[in-house]
Amino acid sequence: MLNKISVVGAGNVGATAAQRLAEKQLARTVVLVDVIEGVPQGKALDQWESAPIERFDTRVVGANDYGPAAGSEIVVVTAGIARKPGMSRDDLVRTNADIVKQVSLQIKQFCPQAIVVVVSNPLDVMCWVTMHVTGFPRERVIGMAGVLDTARYRAFLAEALDVSVEDIQAMVLGGHGDTMVPLVSYTTVSGIPVSQLLDKAKLDKIVERTRNGGAEIVGYLKTGSAYYAPSAAVVQMVEAIVRDKKRILPCAVWLQGEYGLSGMYCGVPAKLGRKGLEQILEVELTAQERAALQTSAEAVKQTMAAVKL
Ligand code: APR
Repeated sequence: MLNKISVVGAGNVGATAAQRLAEKQLARTVVLVDVIEGVPQGKALDQWESAPIERFDTRVVGANDYGPAAGSEIVVVTAGIARKPGMSRDDLVRTNADIVKQVSLQIKQFCPQAIVVVVSNPLDVMCWVTMHVTGFPRERVIGMAGVLDTARYRAFLAEALDVSVEDIQAMVLGGHGDTMVPLVSYTTVSGIPVSQLLDKAKLDKIVERTRNGGAEIVGYLKTGSAYYAPSAAVVQMVEAIVRDKKRILPCAVWLQGEYGLSGMYCGVPAKLGRKGLEQILEVELTAQERAALQTSAEAVKQTMAAVKL
């Protein structure tokens, strides 16, 4: 158990992540920080009042400043705004980059040793902003995207095969967006290649649904985006770090030549432990997967060009 974990942004993803962190007792204190007065305090108090029922001793506190977050060992960043009608993708990138810049300056000042896990979108670009503004090494700025995309893919496969989600092993790499790269060649059901259990047409459909997983939820919710699975995904990454589990998870990391790519964040298999990013695993890819990863990384670079740091 750590002493303190902070979550910046007390919206749907941030508040749900705080609740999951507390219920798993991953830290003595979970601090929820947001710019809206009263909201982090109210949600934190409400969560703390569930502690006697859910039986956790983690204190959840809310704040509008970073004083209570000082010295956090891990900070989860979920601050941002959702795209509004009439807003271009580039406008959204710039707005969220400004928010993430402000947040990163505070993290640098109040939590200089923290490992930062970024959730705000567009994910790969917000990770870069965070690393640049905090000046933290890449081992301490990691993005959550692949775990979520992989969870969606695994859920759809489990449903199609009528088997336990626990028995589906898979990885979705690449940037977090339409260009993500589900690795069908590495997808197994308790070690059995999935291609032996599902025909290509069905698999293609599942891959396509995975790519559109975020949009499918927005289509239902209309005014918001997904948060149950995203919060579960970021907490799985935090748990791997807190418990020094050395888990191999698809994470957005700053690439320096791995997979022939450098100068951008992109989702690749990573080992997470108490030091944060402890290793990047370079696995063999088919020519098609390699090309798809390249395309995905280029899309990230294009979005980075919209932001001035
Ligand atoms: N500092 C702290 N919090 C901020 C700041 C800031 N500078 N600017 C905005 N926020 C807060 C908002 O007040 C809001 O409470 O961020 C929160 C965002 O919450 P929601 O709008 O509910 O969005 P959510 O669904 O939680 O998504 C957050 O995660 O998955 C991504 O695409 C998603 O980028 C989005 C982020």
